[in-house]
Amino acid sequence: MIRLTHAPNSGLNGSVNVPGDKSISHRALMFGAIANGTTVIKNFLTSDDVLHTMQVFRDLGVNIEQNGRMVTVYGKGINNFSAPQQPLDMGNSGTSTRLLMGLLSKQPFDMSIIGDDSLSKRPMVRVSDPLAKMGANIQLTSNGTLPGVIKTNNQLLGITYVMPVASAQVKSAILLAGIQAEGETCIIEKNPSRDHTERMLKQFGGKISVQDGIIKVSRQLSLKGQCINVPSDISSAAFFLVAGLITPNSKLTIKNVGINPTRDGIIKILTRMGAKIIIDKLDSDGEPVADLTVTTQELKGIEITAEDIPSAVDELPIIALAATQAKGDTIISGAEELRVKETDRIATVVSELRKVGAQIDELPDGMIIHGGTALKVVNDSALLLSHGDHRIAMMNAVAALITTGDVVLEGEDAMSVSYPGFLEDLSEVMK
Ligand code: S3P
Repeated sequence: MIRLTHAPNSGLNGSVNVPGDKSISHRALMFGAIANGTTVIKNFLTSDDVLHTMQVFRDLGVNIEQNGRMVTVYGKGINNFSAPQQPLDMGNSGTSTRLLMGLLSKQPFDMSIIGDDSLSKRPMVRVSDPLAKMGANIQLTSNGTLPGVIKTNNQLLGITYVMPVASAQVKSAILLAGIQAEGETCIIEKNPSRDHTERMLKQFGGKISVQDGIIKVSRQLSLKGQCINVPSDISSAAFFLVAGLITPNSKLTIKNVGINPTRDGIIKILTRMGAKIIIDKLDSDGEPVADLTVTTQELKGIEITAEDIPSAVDELPIIALAATQAKGDTIISGAEELRVKETDRIATVVSELRKVGAQIDELPDGMIIHGGTALKVVNDSALLLSHGDHRIAMMNAVAALITTGDVVLEGEDAMSVSYPGFLEDLSEVMK
């Protein structure tokens, strides 16, 4: 439990280097492990989620060296893993679980997969079903959750699959099975989700066709080790973007942020809310990168609908906080996926922000945030909870910057799932 800090009267100022992108760090380990030769990953995210993926590959016999943010993976090729001696532990990480279910769906041994309490409540049938259509055999509980077993399997066949939900984890699981399958695998996406898997497959020398929402891959087992520079995570930068916009007297630059168009919804949404974000594009390979600068600004309420959700899915909690400070109402709809994240993020955002006086109505698929509310603790002090969810913990810490009264946070250690050192980086810009 910690006491959260208010922003000083002088605001938040300076520049921040947020850690490497979580989605890209997971994928760099995965492609590095299945490629032939050595992969060097720079600006690797050493957070709990990604370290679980790293441990899984070590358990499968892959040699991985880590020196701070630099990681070297000695790739084995996809058919040379060793049978693990214990269950593969995914911790809190949905990305590890779902992508690895696809990647490991054709191995000559059984693998048990387990996760923490939150992960063990999250839906996995969305991945095991299409993989079963390809010939994989993944056993889950009767609720379709972990713990599970990826059974021995020696054949996968390509499928055509129309995505029922916009999910990069489901898409990536099918693609990672597709590159091991006989025949073509074709995925049809109505509303595009993040495309890091597609980009990285190309970077590792693989072939993939992407056109008008139709993604095609076929069998390819000769990927080559690469050097990957991981951009800083826009989902982590989001907390500083909003903090800089809503805290009086602030000017913040967030350096070297990945601005992949399938991930930059936070920039587009804040811009529609009236924010001016200065985007200084930088040279990059594989993924576009920029320095982002914001100053304190007035925001206005907007409508955020289903098409906006995939590219901002992880940023909706901090966007909801920004909306409490905007003029007018913000309506978020078509966001039912939030209910199956690390927590039910519609429920946890509403319950936590109400504790500091925000006016929010809960909807089945989103929320209505009545803006223009000066945040203050409702009684003498507010006890905010992370609910074990990293992004709810960080949203609470940003809310506290502009809340009058004492704010305490329970469960702050959840931040290490994606952003170890978040509170230290926040206090650096308060000096
Ligand atoms: C991720 C995809 C998203 C996102 C998650 C990371 C990925 O999940 O919420 O934090 O790396 O592919 P969904 O695929 O469930 O939308």
